[in-house]
Amino acid sequence: MLPKNPKQIEEILKPLQLSSETYGAIKQKMDDDMTNGLSTDQHTLADAKMYITYVRAVPNGTEVGNFLALDLGGTNFRVLLIKLDGGEVTMQSTIYMIPEAIMTGTGAQLFDHIANCIDSFIEDKKLDRTVELPLGFTFSFPCKQEGLAKARLVTWTKGFNCSGVVNEDIVRLLHESVAKKQIKVRCIAVINDTVGALMSCAHEDNRCQIGLILGTGTNACYMEKIERVQQWDGDDESPQEVIINTEWGAFGNSKALNFITTEYDTNVDKISINPGKQIYEKMISGMYMGEIARQVVIKLVDAGCLFDGVASEKLRTPMAFLTKYISEIESDEEFDNFVKTRQVLDELDVERYRVADCLVMQEVCSVVSTRAAYLAAAGISVLLDRVEKPEVTIGVDGSLYRYHPKFHDLITEKLSQLSPHKKFKLMLSHDGSGKGAALVAAVAWRIYCSN
Ligand code: GLC
Repeated sequence: MLPKNPKQIEEILKPLQLSSETYGAIKQKMDDDMTNGLSTDQHTLADAKMYITYVRAVPNGTEVGNFLALDLGGTNFRVLLIKLDGGEVTMQSTIYMIPEAIMTGTGAQLFDHIANCIDSFIEDKKLDRTVELPLGFTFSFPCKQEGLAKARLVTWTKGFNCSGVVNEDIVRLLHESVAKKQIKVRCIAVINDTVGALMSCAHEDNRCQIGLILGTGTNACYMEKIERVQQWDGDDESPQEVIINTEWGAFGNSKALNFITTEYDTNVDKISINPGKQIYEKMISGMYMGEIARQVVIKLVDAGCLFDGVASEKLRTPMAFLTKYISEIESDEEFDNFVKTRQVLDELDVERYRVADCLVMQEVCSVVSTRAAYLAAAGISVLLDRVEKPEVTIGVDGSLYRYHPKFHDLITEKLSQLSPHKKFKLMLSHDGSGKGAALVAAVAWRIYCSN
């Protein structure tokens, strides 16, 4: 059965379908922006701030010890206990909720809550409270680091907005809250989740030079030569490389992406808690992708191209169309009678729909997710070219990458076009935010104990 008004549907979807040349142009703009980010005089103009992480070497498999890790900034907050024994890694972890009131409350409330969670974890796992435990903190927000264990938050992203934290050293805030409890932990490393993904993959594959997150937010980091990092203020010891956290989610904040911005993107930005910020992230990541699709769906309904022109109240509710629905709808195979698409439509209280409507829904989801994957590929392609190695592994984590049925293939396809002379592999990172934090902490702890 054919959908109604195919021409009109095409018109509504068209702004989201970009040509190969356009993706090439986006790549070029990102590359220029990243060059600015690394420089001293143009840094303030750059959107991608290219933060220095102070993580120099990738792990070599000799790391040992017991470490606590915290993972804040993704779908869940987790406390982990990680045992490193050379190549072997064993982990135990507990997920704790961060209520929305805390996500947008005060910094003190947030860090006290974190300290309470660590306290219950120590209790549950019956850990020895008299021994000081080293801790690696995966804090997945833009930070200006002044060392491995000193990181000032630059701005909140994703759903967080706690007062009194911007410009503060989050390690100090954590230690202050922990000190109120009878807990002996010492945070010795703060890392971004992208760094965790890179480190945990590098532990298994030493060609890993790029860490990528496609989850609630999106971001990437990569190994850069120190001579190209004009802002480098660390020592000159080898290796002559350092991991750079690009914070590419902010790309577009200075309007570099205006030439591809659709009315759907503008609406998503308007209803977000940080309008004008994280423009590239809002076109790609899990926190926003469902809402882009919902914006398109509503436009189609109102044009009489879907559901006989009737949208349920739920469908008209901002943020009600979750990104996981896109993954579900796109997982439907041709002959399985749209089982998952129907389930989603039922969940959204859509009362009357036909096969033709299911087909249109699939098309909407595919157009939105393809643009997201191709945009991400444009960014990765910039980093692939910068790494200058013949074979590069990209460590990837995040719910969007894990659960979307086609994201991996779409990125691979576009990346081969944009970086035709590179050999690359996208590798799923297994629990980078936990394992990566422990690996970085292990190296730092060795140095700390020897001083
Ligand atoms: C946001 C954060 C960034 C993080 C990414 C993925 O973009 O600013 O630090 O890496 O989300 O979680």
